[in-house]
Amino acid sequence: MNKQASCGPVEHWDLSDGKVAMLRSIGPQDAEIEQAFVRGLSEESKYFRFMTQMCELSPEMLQHFINPDPMREAALIVTVPRDGGGAEEEIAVGRYAMNPGNESCEFAIVVADAWQAHGIATRLMQALMKHAAGRGIKRMEGFVMASNIKMLEFMCFLGFEVRSSAKGPQIKLVSRPLDDMATI
Ligand SMILES: CC(C)(COP(=O)(O)OP(=O)(O)OC[C@H]1O[C@@H](n2cnc3c(N)ncnc32)[C@H](O)[C@@H]1OP(=O)(O)O)[C@@H](O)C(=O)NCCC(=O)NCCS
Repeated sequence: MNKQASCGPVEHWDLSDGKVAMLRSIGPQDAEIEQAFVRGLSEESKYFRFMTQMCELSPEMLQHFINPDPMREAALIVTVPRDGGGAEEEIAVGRYAMNPGNESCEFAIVVADAWQAHGIATRLMQALMKHAAGRGIKRMEGFVMASNIKMLEFMCFLGFEVRSSAKGPQIKLVSRPLDDMATI
């Protein structure tokens, strides 16, 4: 049974530098921090995430990204406090969209370069998988560039199977059942 995505704050994490990161659903109020996050990514991170060269999100992409369809999509962001005044800086985002039939979903994830190798993606992927499992989605899939060795190793670490894809030799399909994920 598929359910509408829940919203609002999900988790708080203590980071090694003393900051507290917040994991929450993205929303229409996040246009500025989402665009700033994408602009700030390195060329390589942007290419691995979007599989094309780009500077920033188009207005259409931005609107879509901050307004995921609650019936078939979800997007979780990780933020840290900025400037001590209640403002947030986005440091990671993970999202998925249900595939036709609603049995599986396709995900994508990206972490700000300065925050990589701190375990952010591990926690974000766990949250994304639990979120999807809680809606009754049975399998999570994603497309990863064959040259993205770090992501492919990370996927294996998380229990994803890596296979060739119908998109050609440069793009791998990663796939994992969600039956071991606790429901939200
Ligand atoms: C790939 C990416 C998401 C990883 O994000 P990250 O926050 O650096 O990931 P984590 O810190 O959670 O690292 C993964 C952790 O999982 C574990 N891990 C990953 N691969 C592992 C392996 N092969 N063996 C054992 N442990 C592994 C480790 O604990 C590792 O942390 P460490 O290497 O710092 O010890 C990030 O590099 C990124 O955003 N890349 C650009 C965008 C992208 O490629 N997106 C994928 C396409 S959708």
